[in-house]
Amino acid sequence: MTIDGKVRKTLAELGVNDAADVEALFAEVRAAIEAERANLVSRGAVSESDRDKLCKDLRDRWLARKNGILSFIDENWLKKAPKEVKPAVGKHFNALRQAAARLEIADLLRDFHRDVTVTVTGVQVKASVGSAIITTTAADLTLPGNRRPLGSLHPVTQVQREIEEIFLNLGFRIESGPEIESVYYNFDALNIPESHPSRDDWDTLYIDSKTVLRTHTSPVQIRAMEKYGAPLYIIIPGKCYRHDNPDASHSPMFHQIEGLAIASDITFADLKGTLDFFAKKLFGEKIRTRFQPSFFPFTEPSGEVAISCIFCGGEGCRVCKESGWIEVMGCGMVHPLVLRNGGIDPEKYTGWAFGLGIDRFAMLKYDINDIQLFFQSDVRFLKQF
Ligand code: PHE
Repeated sequence: MTIDGKVRKTLAELGVNDAADVEALFAEVRAAIEAERANLVSRGAVSESDRDKLCKDLRDRWLARKNGILSFIDENWLKKAPKEVKPAVGKHFNALRQAAARLEIADLLRDFHRDVTVTVTGVQVKASVGSAIITTTAADLTLPGNRRPLGSLHPVTQVQREIEEIFLNLGFRIESGPEIESVYYNFDALNIPESHPSRDDWDTLYIDSKTVLRTHTSPVQIRAMEKYGAPLYIIIPGKCYRHDNPDASHSPMFHQIEGLAIASDITFADLKGTLDFFAKKLFGEKIRTRFQPSFFPFTEPSGEVAISCIFCGGEGCRVCKESGWIEVMGCGMVHPLVLRNGGIDPEKYTGWAFGLGIDRFAMLKYDINDIQLFFQSDVRFLKQF
């Protein structure tokens, strides 16, 4: 039976009962595609209009939505496949679709053209091909070009840019620092001495006894103070690392943005005002902020900032665990010792700092419940942003 006959029957009618039969059947179809295609593109000398028609006919024979061979395979083989072989049929059908994409007219024409060129470069056949065809096929500027699909910015990058934009408009600059960081900058200079139990709060990945993968973006506070002195208004986006097992809310690599403002008369009121403004810009004017006392060795006093739940408006829901609030960042007034470690006189200057997780903000913003999705490079996920 020819392929044309077979695709009009169901698998059962063809006596195809197991995965091996399915594989053999699809191999046959693919061989037919290859043979028909090769037969077409090697035809050599034909007029341009004949060539176009031949390509279109072959394309339609296989790919036409109605009565194309693939449409029959879809109807008669895939849709009617018994349960046991359906996955195998689906898999082979997908592969077949990809192979059959080579029957699109543009693709056929390209190879047709190449083939003609190859033929005419052979001296013996030159005469039989005819120069009219050579020139027209070589310079058919109406052929469609190869379209390369455009990529887009990763959702985490998009949210990072949005946050940056808000602070840039407030007069902050963007600063960065190394991801491989010294213990000094990551801990000591931030008032986290070795003996201090809070070092355990950051599950650190050590490279050697003096070097770590930075556990937060805070070390860049010190680096920037040393580099620029005061006054200083910066945000510091970047990757951070912790010895965490990957799960829905943890990733050993994640992203933070640090904010730091230092000037001669900075108060906690500035911190509250700025972060409230920021939250409203990012999540909408209705958002409220709540500041609760907390502890970080490098800020005093320290605070935990929550925003009113962006999903329920504060009434209580699954995301905010019925509390109406979502904790989104740590903050506080820069500890005088930290200013001093950065070479800034705490008698003259005060400052505030905050740190937030960009991935977590992106999860909130797009209502994503698994941080792992950001790092799996699955186009079906990424395409949605
Ligand atoms: N570095 C802190 C963390 O990673 C966040 C923070 C930054 C807290 C700045 C206060 C001030 O948890």
